[in-house]
Amino acid sequence: MKKKLLLATLLLSTSALFAQVSKPIEMPYVEYPIAAGDHDEVVQQYCLICHSFGYVLNQGKKSRPYWKGTIQKMVNEFKAPIPKEDQQTIINYLVKHYGYETSSEH
Ligand code: HEC
Repeated sequence: MKKKLLLATLLLSTSALFAQVSKPIEMPYVEYPIAAGDHDEVVQQYCLICHSFGYVLNQGKKSRPYWKGTIQKMVNEFKAPIPKEDQQTIINYLVKHYGYETSSEH
């Protein structure tokens, strides 16, 4: 008797599993808010085309040359459609909020 009950529960739970598969699969969207100001809207506009700000926030504080190189990589290698003047705005923003100026850079 107990076995039958177990089987019934098992069947019920597996059918629930199958029912879920027929639904469209939704990936959770994790939002990473970034600092406001200094034209953060430009950063929002261009950087979110391909990925979240997780990539930016996970780097920790980085130097100006690092951020400059990263933006160049996004543009040259990944074809991010960012106009030159906006690239400068983005680099300045990133250095201010997620980086530091390097004194050795003259
Ligand atoms: C055209 C698509 C695209 C756009 C637009 C884009 N990225 Fe990326 N980004 C990528 C890809 C692809 C990777 C690499 C992902 C991987 O290696 O897993 C990446 C990775 C990164 C990384 C991780 C470190 C690294 O060097 O790989 C950072 C930081 C980053 N992007 C910052 C930015 C910022 C800031 C912007 C806005 C100026 C931006 N991205 C816009 C495509 C893009």
